[in-house]
This record gives sequence, structure tokens and C-alpha cells, in this order.
Amino acid sequence: MIDISANISGVHFDSCIMNASGPLDTTLEELTDIAMSRAGGIVMKSCTVEVREGNPEPRYVDVEWGSINSMGLPNLGYKYYNEITPKLKSYGKPLIASIAGAESQEYRKIVESFNSSNVDILEINLSCPNVVGRPQIGYDFEMSEEIMGVVGDVSDKPWGVKLPPYFDFVHFEEMASILNNSKISFIVSINSIGNALFIDWETEKVLIKPKGGFGGLGGKYIKPTALANVRKFAELLNKRIKIVGVGGVYSGIDAFEFILSGATLLQLGTSFAQEGPQIFERVSRELKEIMEKKGYASLEDFRGKLKVMD
Ligand SMILES: Cc1cc2nc3c(=O)[nH]c(=O)nc-3n(C[C@H](O)[C@H](O)[C@H](O)COP(=O)(O)O)c2cc1C
Repeated sequence: MIDISANISGVHFDSCIMNASGPLDTTLEELTDIAMSRAGGIVMKSCTVEVREGNPEPRYVDVEWGSINSMGLPNLGYKYYNEITPKLKSYGKPLIASIAGAESQEYRKIVESFNSSNVDILEINLSCPNVVGRPQIGYDFEMSEEIMGVVGDVSDKPWGVKLPPYFDFVHFEEMASILNNSKISFIVSINSIGNALFIDWETEKVLIKPKGGFGGLGGKYIKPTALANVRKFAELLNKRIKIVGVGGVYSGIDAFEFILSGATLLQLGTSFAQEGPQIFERVSRELKEIMEKKGYASLEDFRGKLKVMD
């Protein structure tokens, strides 16, 4: 028997493969499709204090090797996600709430409300716009630290942070030192690569409407950056902090590479948006086939054991 189960803070996942916050997880109907699939857990859309309509359309477009989006966090508000938790929990999978905000008091309010719900784990999305003229929260180390302090004070649930990609080793080290001093159980790495631009050369126009066409990049384009982030954080973080890998996972080979780099769980965003809920069964099966060929019985047999050259 090949075992692809995983554990974060005592929460058991039968499969390490699940959805990423964002695509096809905004309504109870969409979340029920995930609950009934072979996904190892259910991750809900990032929620905010107020209901948000998000940006004007077109705001998500499939491109050759992935996607570009500038959704603007459309969601039904944290109260909705709180209210639907009993229904979703009845499917027996771990349930993860994703929380977004512009400043620490908004995070506090939502975290406190989920304390009394039966959500298993909280994912604190730090890839959110903060103050105009300042970078998104994950690139504002002071603000990130403040939010982690507040969440650590009020959360009764295991929690972690969803991070944007980093590109410079100095930034990795700075963020890792903040993370190592926080109460997080895990990181989710990476969010979309920010502010990419696609052009339709025939119409000479950008592909999405918001922000003059700039948007977050997902899919195959970002796998090397996501692997590098998982790998670097696996080197720098205390071993108690687990890593959830996201970014360009389409196949069992992709999943295998992320675990080899140090990931415990995997989330699928663009690939799930493109293929639908059957992707969880396919990627799990492909991962098991690779493990069987290599003689690995569980993820521990190869997690983090990436080889480097002498
Ligand atoms: C349409 C869309 C909406 C997204 N919304 C969220 C969100 O609400 N919260 C979040 O943390 N990430 C969000 N993301 C980012 C994904 O969770 C993921 O980190 C990113 O797309 C990279 O993974 P991928 O290559 O599998 O798409 C969104 C991505 C897409 C494509």
C-alpha cells in the first residue's frame, strides 16, 4: 500500500493533494464539489470582513502555460464561510479557512470568529494589498510581523501564512527569521507571481481589464520559482514549521518534485481551474505510481531529500 497521507498540527490528511485558495472555492456549491472529490482537504476562498464583488471582468484568462488574474478578492464575506463549515465538515475532510485583510484588526476579527467554528486550520493570506504606496503585506516585513503577532495572540486553531514568492536570498532570510519567531505551524508557498503582463499581439491589447492588464501569474510558468521558495524555506525554517507547496502543480511528477524539495502538502490552483475536481484523483494516482516505481512507501521516504551536486 502506497501512503500519500500527511499531517499538520495533528490534523490528518488522507491525501497530500488538495485545492489552492481562489479558483472554484467561493460558494458552498463549488466547495461541495471539492468535498466530494478525491482532494485530501478543502481550502476555502480567502475571505474578508465585508462581502467583495472584486474587479471588473475579464479578470481571469487561461494562457498557454497557465493563467493570469486580477480578481480583486471577490468573496462572500467571513460570516458566510463561518456558516457553511458544518455542512462542509460533514464530508469528513480537513477544512481550511483562508483569511485576507488590509490591516491587523481585520485579521483579528475574522480569526476570532473562526475560533468558535469547526474549521480545522487557518491560512492567513499575506499576499494582500495593504496601504497605497506600500508593497503587498508579504513584502512589508514589519506589517507581516504585526499581523502574525495579532493572529498568534487570538487564534485557538493551528494556523499558517500564505506567502508571495521571494526572489532574493536576503529577503528569504529576513522573512524566515520572522516566521521562526512566530506561532505558525506551516507556510503556504507560493501565491501568484505578481504583476505579470500578457498581450494579444493581433488586437494590440492586454488580456485582462483591471490594473491596465497587470495581474498575478499562475501555472507552469511559476513552478521553478515555487520549487525554489519551498526549497529555500525548508532550509531556513525550524523543522516544526511545515511547508505547503503551491505553484504549477499539474501532475504526479510536479507533486513528487515539491515533496523532494521539502513540501508536506500540495495545493492546485490554475490546474484545478482548468481541469476540474477529477484532477485530485489523477495527480494522487500519478504520484503513487512514481512512488511505487521508486520503491517509496510513504512521503517521509523522500521528503526534503533533494540531491545537490558536489
Ligand atoms: C483565479 C485565482 C484566484 C486566486 N485567489 C486567491 C485567493 O483568494 N487567496 C489566495 O491565497 N490565493 C489566491 N490565488 C492564488 C492561488 O491560490 C495560487 O497560490 C497561485 O495561483 C499559484 O498556484 P497555481 O500555479 O497552481 O495556480 C488565486 C489564483 C487564481 C488563479
